[in-house]
Amino acid sequence: MKILAIETSCDETAAAVVVDGRQILSNIVASSMPLHKKTGGIIPEIAARKQLEFILPVIEKALRQAKLKPNIHMPVPRTLFDDIDLIAVTTGPGLIGSLLIGVETAKTLSLSISKPLVGVNHIHAHLYANWLNSSNQPGFPAIGLVVSGGHTELFLLTSHENIKWLGGTRDDAAGEAFDKTARLLGLGYPGGPAVSAAAEKFQISNSKFQNKIKLPRPMINSNDLDFSFSGLKTAVIREINKLKTMKQWNNEAMVQLAYEIQESITDVLVKKTLQASQQYNVKSIIIGGGVAANKRLTEKFHLAIRNLELEINLHIPPPALCTDNAAYIASFAFYHQKQIRWQELKADPQLPVEV
Ligand code: KG4
Ligand code: ZN
Repeated sequence: MKILAIETSCDETAAAVVVDGRQILSNIVASSMPLHKKTGGIIPEIAARKQLEFILPVIEKALRQAKLKPNIHMPVPRTLFDDIDLIAVTTGPGLIGSLLIGVETAKTLSLSISKPLVGVNHIHAHLYANWLNSSNQPGFPAIGLVVSGGHTELFLLTSHENIKWLGGTRDDAAGEAFDKTARLLGLGYPGGPAVSAAAEKFQISNSKFQNKIKLPRPMINSNDLDFSFSGLKTAVIREINKLKTMKQWNNEAMVQLAYEIQESITDVLVKKTLQASQQYNVKSIIIGGGVAANKRLTEKFHLAIRNLELEINLHIPPPALCTDNAAYIASFAFYHQKQIRWQELKADPQLPVEV
């Protein structure tokens, strides 16, 4: 089955063609990120205007790149859509102006070319990047961790049909913590890759310097599966002010602080995910979302699984599939073909992650 998927929940405009939920034929992403870099964060109005500009060229490019082949019954494809069996689209959560562009485009396509339509929850779908282009498919039961700019959520997956929400952040998401603290460090937007790059500089010189800066690991020892990252931002402000008073706020201190921010966030994510994995005795851990692209996070997961001698398979997608794209939307739709009439499909910026 060939699925054309559309994703427009935030500042990326994405379309992909995926076969049977696994094989990516094309995966096109256009982003208005360069514009948001100038303002240090996403301006929803600008993101929506750019979605409108990008949506059709991105879909056309995805269809052309997929090179839908003529077959014996239809030697010459009449339109770019002939070979597509189903259209999938993100319905939420996300920015309403951005979501509406994708949802209305998908509805229009479904109506005009008479193809079935599936609406997809962006957060659940992030996990399905682990089913793409991989010979090593995750086994059930699995713990799923979604770590993105707006979400930090833990799920228990006992099958494709059974995805149970276990816990999540009570305030800022992990990606948001990276973004907000990066801004305090003067590192710009998006914060995750910037903090990570700064932290690597400290790691390189780590043999010479001991990191004197210590930040809290919020909720690391709480018995539940919840997170809280907003206190980290306050702790970082306090640390910067202290260093400034002591006239020690310089590039070296910034790099040390970046290192400690990354250590704090990744320590908590690994600890809570393993806690859930042991609690539910799972076969796999599957991770998705922009923060899953963090190299230190991957490193720490591998280390912790080895140290605890757990028999758990860890699945983390390659970085390009961690951040927003439409390929995982297609994969999720393949495994959850809950078709909806175009008349009923709605964008929902607050689409809940609890099912
Ligand atoms: O999943 P995503 O692309 O969009 C949302 O659905 O939010 O995630 C974006 C988030 C941003 O907060 C960004 O700073 C973070 O992912 N991010 C990273 C890395 N790359 C992106 N965080 C830590 N390390 C990275 N390498
Ligand atoms: Zn996302």
